[in-house]
Formats: sequence, structure tokens, C-alpha cells
Amino acid sequence: MTRIQDIQARKARGEKLVMLTAYEAWMARILAATGAVDMLLVGDSVGMVDLGYDTTIPVTMSDMVRHTRAVRAGAPDALIVADMPFLSHQIGIGQAMRNAGRLMQHGGASAVKLEGGGPTVATVERIVGAGIPVMGHLGLQPQYVHAQGGFRRQATLPEEQRVLIADATALEQAGAFAIVLECVSKELACAVTRKLRIPTIGIGSGPDCDGQVLVTHDILGFSGESKPSFAKQYADLAAALGDAAGSFAREVREGKFPRA
Ligand code: KIV
Repeated sequence: MTRIQDIQARKARGEKLVMLTAYEAWMARILAATGAVDMLLVGDSVGMVDLGYDTTIPVTMSDMVRHTRAVRAGAPDALIVADMPFLSHQIGIGQAMRNAGRLMQHGGASAVKLEGGGPTVATVERIVGAGIPVMGHLGLQPQYVHAQGGFRRQATLPEEQRVLIADATALEQAGAFAIVLECVSKELACAVTRKLRIPTIGIGSGPDCDGQVLVTHDILGFSGESKPSFAKQYADLAAALGDAAGSFAREVREGKFPRA
């Protein structure tokens, strides 16, 4: 898998970066074995796709440490980015440093991801200063879903676009090694991507970002109705799982499994 030190050079060479979410050891093992994925993201989306919550807000540091540790167990050599969950870094710098450190020391993360610009930039600078690589996250920030008015496109007004570009520039200056741009217009994503030396990783933000990330459950067909419209489903593993369970049940009932 890719090293953080190579990420900027990949952008300079115009090579697209690929990130997918993983929350379990088995998923991490399969994704790492493809050799096609640059980074694994232990997203707090785990709360919505695995734990059944409506938002990512209930996800805790303990959840994130447990899932990050599982992903590290499945992919010992991977570049693993772990999300800092809701209110795990906003209370103070001490709290932010301790929690970022927990994800590295106890979870085995290679880097952490923080949603937000503005006041979050100073926190990012301190965490990077402590030797912990940080990925930024701008645009739709699911932890702020109530403040942002729902899961919808962000930075639609010129003033909001100016703020987002300023936040992205400030995050780069603070030492972030990449920035996720979620649900912003193709034009805005393109403008940010051109302005920054560090790569942008898009989700629902058009094709011009330096890389793309999706929630793995969405590409595998596990999300049903809740798959966001911008995500593309590449397989129907929900149907395969249903078929396998049905075949097992039928064979048990027909006395075909187990064989003597
Ligand atoms: O939590 C997550 O999976 C994310 C991605 C959607 C970027 O932050």
C-alpha cells in the first residue's frame, strides 16, 4: 500500500488515489490483498452502515479504537486513516492530542482524519506537530449534519465557497497531508484541487479531485435504499449473502448438510 510520504508525489504525477472504508479485519484483509487500494479509512460511517445509527454522532472513541484495531489486524502493512469521532477533539487541545494518540497507540492507525475547518485548523497543526499525520475533511461533514441542515450539498453560495477554499488552504498550511471534499460542486472541488499541493480525495464532488473515496458497503450493495445517489454499486453481495443463507437453510432442512 501507499506511504504518506508518497501521497504528494502521486498528485504531482497526476496519479489518482483510491481510498475505501473498512471496519473489520476480514474486510481489511480482502481490500489490502487487492493491492489496488492506497488507503483504508476506518470511517465513523461505521455507526451508520454497521451499527445501525441514523447519523455518525453516537460513534465513540471506544468504537473507533476497536474498529481501527480490527482493521490493523487484517491489514498489517496498510496506510490506515482513522476518523476522530464527534466531540473527540473540540473540547481542548489536550483532549484532541490524547484521542489522536489513542487511535495510533491502541488502534494502530497510521493517520487520523478530522472534520472541519475554522477552529479545527489550529488543532490539526498541534496534532501534526506531535508527529501524527492528519487528513482534513471539508464540505459535508456528517458529524455536523444538524448544523449543516442535513445530508446535502455544501458550499453552494459564493461566500461559503470562499470560506471552504480558505479552510482548505489553512489545513494545507497546518500540515494536513490530504483533504476529503464531501458533497461539493465539481467546480469548487476542481478549484480547491488546483490550488493545493496536497491531494484532495472526493466523495460526491465530481471527477476532478486527486482521488476518490467511497463507503465499501455502498459499492458492494449492502446499503439498499440508503446508498447515496453519487455512490456506484459494483457488486450485489447482499443478494449473494441471501442466496448463500437460503441454500444453507434448505440443505439443513432437506438433510443434505451436514453429510455423514
Ligand atoms: O466516515 C466516513 O466513511 C467518511 C467518508 C465518507 C469520507 O468520512
